[in-house]
Amino acid sequence: MRILAIGPGDGAWLAALHRACFPDDAWDADAWASLLAQPGVRGAALVEADEPIGFVLVRHAADEAEILTIGVAPGRRRAGCGRRLLDHAVAGLPADVATVHLEVAVDNPAALALYGRSGFAPVGRRRGYYRRRDGSVDALMLSLVRANGLSGNWKSDAGPGNHGRETPERV
Ligand SMILES: CC(C)(COP(=O)(O)OP(=O)(O)OC[C@H]1O[C@@H](n2cnc3c(N)ncnc32)[C@H](O)[C@@H]1OP(=O)(O)O)[C@@H](O)C(=O)NCCC(=O)NCCS
Repeated sequence: MRILAIGPGDGAWLAALHRACFPDDAWDADAWASLLAQPGVRGAALVEADEPIGFVLVRHAADEAEILTIGVAPGRRRAGCGRRLLDHAVAGLPADVATVHLEVAVDNPAALALYGRSGFAPVGRRRGYYRRRDGSVDALMLSLVRANGLSGNWKSDAGPGNHGRETPERV
């Protein structure tokens, strides 16, 4: 199994894998291509014998980063792939990125386990953030404070980033 960098030209197969991971909120190939073309956005895929197994997308700006999405093909879960992708994304951030943020639905035990075991801790909650067929569920906002010097095999070219982040409701 190998981890490869992904780029705007990979949108089509990324969209198919993303649909398998997020059937109710799939991003199409154009959305992937557009995100991957943005400054500060980096992605990686886990590939086995040319078969894509999983993906991760992270955006950084100044001293903060955000995991935008992560997914592992349904048939390949619980084998360490998610952990490997997340570790790769965090370790590849520039040295000056001190904090990594993400949002996760409270009804997603697999993702909560992955993030918790990787050192992310809750810092806030957004009520009713994710739509569901029968209503909505809250998002937990999690953060990881990085130790200095854990960087970084991705070039630092931070863009405008995610300014204007809402002030979270504290948990
Ligand atoms: C979340 C996801 C990426 C995890 O991928 P994965 O390859 O199965 O995760 P890993 O095998 O690396 O597991 C990481 C840790 O989480 C735990 N874990 C994973 N799935 C779990 C589950 N369903 N229930 C409990 N624990 C779970 C593992 O036991 C492991 O802990 P360990 O290191 O102590 O053994 C995967 O379930 C997925 O793609 N889900 C759909 C997309 C999604 O929800 N993405 C996250 C959006 S915020």
